[in-house]
Amino acid sequence: MIKSILKKAFGINKPEVAPEPITQATIDTVNRNPRIKRFDIINALIEKHGYNSYVEIGVRNPNECFAFINCKEKYGVDPGVEADFPVDFNMTSDAFFAQNNRKYDLIFIDGLHVDEQVKRDIANALNAITPNGTIVLHDCNPPDLHHAREDYYDFNTPATVYWNGTVWKAIVDFRASDEATKYSCVVVNTDYGIGVIRPTTQGAKIENDNPFYAFRKFEKDRERYIGLISIEEFEKEYIGKPIVAHH
Ligand SMILES: C[S@@+](CC[C@H](N)C(=O)[O-])C[C@H]1O[C@@H](n2cnc3c(N)ncnc32)[C@H](O)[C@@H]1O
Repeated sequence: MIKSILKKAFGINKPEVAPEPITQATIDTVNRNPRIKRFDIINALIEKHGYNSYVEIGVRNPNECFAFINCKEKYGVDPGVEADFPVDFNMTSDAFFAQNNRKYDLIFIDGLHVDEQVKRDIANALNAITPNGTIVLHDCNPPDLHHAREDYYDFNTPATVYWNGTVWKAIVDFRASDEATKYSCVVVNTDYGIGVIRPTTQGAKIENDNPFYAFRKFEKDRERYIGLISIEEFEKEYIGKPIVAHH
């Protein structure tokens, strides 16, 4: 009835059902069980650039990511603080980079999710990637303050054991640094935010007008602070075709 009156009067259809509000549960589902996961993005980059070598900083259970990576040479780095699966380099990322003297095509940073550590991991990884290499980072886009808490062990929040830590601050710092003139740095909006750092000739740094790293300020403008882009934008600009999901 209302629909036909509206249509007659204004030529519009009133939607039958109001759009679903974006609830915390929706955000959690999208991030915890996304269509495109971190290893899908990594595999798409490996295929696109014909990469041969891969390093994962922070492996935990290899059956959650490492095992799904399709690359000729693969190496895992983990000191075993969260779980004790065998890895190629049973040490911290700092110790790994200190002994490293070779280059890798893709380095995935997913170790200690504290901004100071992530900043060091990025700086070390920049020295250890091949000229057309890529750095990928996990947990760059915390859905809320609970996921972005400092203390992993504070499980008494709506985020429970899920933890993105303060990786987002390292991404903001990178995008505001001189390095951003030589490397593009974006975050794909899936699986808690997949950061991608690649060499570019068209880089530009942002102004970090959030010196206290206030989460409330960050969450209002994620596009600018961390370069948040959709999966579709990433496919178009970085891969050139749709990404195939592993499962
Ligand atoms: C989030 S888990 C990694 C998950 C895995 N990359 C995946 O995609 O499923 C983080 C891992 O980082 C490891 N870790 C903690 N501190 C580290 C450090 N300083 N250097 C490297 N790895 C670290 C932990 O032992 C843990 O296994």
